[in-house]
Amino acid sequence: MSTTTPTTSAQTASPYGTLPPASAPASRKPVSLPPLADMHARGEKIAMLTAYDATFAAMADAAGIDCLLVGDSLGMVCQGLHSTVGVSLDTMRYHTDSVSRGLRRVQGTAWLIADLPFGSYQESREQALRSAITLMQAGAQMVKLEGGGWTIDTVRFIVERGVPVCAHLGLTPQTVHALGGYRVQGRDESSAARLLDDARALQDAGAAMLVLEMVPAALSARLTGELAQCATIGIGAGRGTAGQVLVMHDMLGVNLGKPPKFVRNFMAGSDSIEHALRAYVHAVKDGTFPDDSLHAW
Ligand code: KIV
Repeated sequence: MSTTTPTTSAQTASPYGTLPPASAPASRKPVSLPPLADMHARGEKIAMLTAYDATFAAMADAAGIDCLLVGDSLGMVCQGLHSTVGVSLDTMRYHTDSVSRGLRRVQGTAWLIADLPFGSYQESREQALRSAITLMQAGAQMVKLEGGGWTIDTVRFIVERGVPVCAHLGLTPQTVHALGGYRVQGRDESSAARLLDDARALQDAGAAMLVLEMVPAALSARLTGELAQCATIGIGAGRGTAGQVLVMHDMLGVNLGKPPKFVRNFMAGSDSIEHALRAYVHAVKDGTFPDDSLHAW
């Protein structure tokens, strides 16, 4: 007599991937702007990672990540490009849709941000709004765009129309050619002053979050203290920011080259990806990552 439990078609395991057919109800409330603002006000660190597909998004969510970013770094990570400049809006829409579907499949709670790619917001405020709507309709809850100066008006325009915005200052990879390479920004007095002015203006325009990439730790800590309405998220910006972000592949050690100085490989010492993801969330929350003596300038 067979002891195998008969399976219904709904129970049949998929031969591909590992998302569960259903999952237990979420163990925490969905992350949204008010809880993120509370975390910033309380000084609880915000843990963010990039995600480009459904399965990794679901795994990061289960590990307790607060925010997922469908970054245009997917140009390098997934498409093999040399920079983010060649990433299209359609590609961003595709990956945002995949990540969002992965989160919904597991009743995920992470706040989902998607990058507006190069060329999708530079022409006009209206173009920026149309591109933002494309990503919001694919499941993003917030869009991210790079730069200060002329972007401030664009940020105000799309925030007023109901699109939450994360700004991005410091090393802005979409303008790497104009910047002359992947270098630390805000090191001298005048560029530090420009960064401070841009950050204040972006907060006034309604940006609720601000990624600071490759910015000296002292400058980003000062800025974080000043920006009460806008949570700073650092990548190579020291431990004084309101939160941290890394490219998921980098923090899992899935990187053939030499990783940037600001990366820590959380797979080292972990016996599984789940464990490494949890270790990242834990290290961001308890302030042990980043270590300014190793990961910052
Ligand atoms: O594109 C990206 O992944 C990013 C992060 C590195 C902040 O912008």
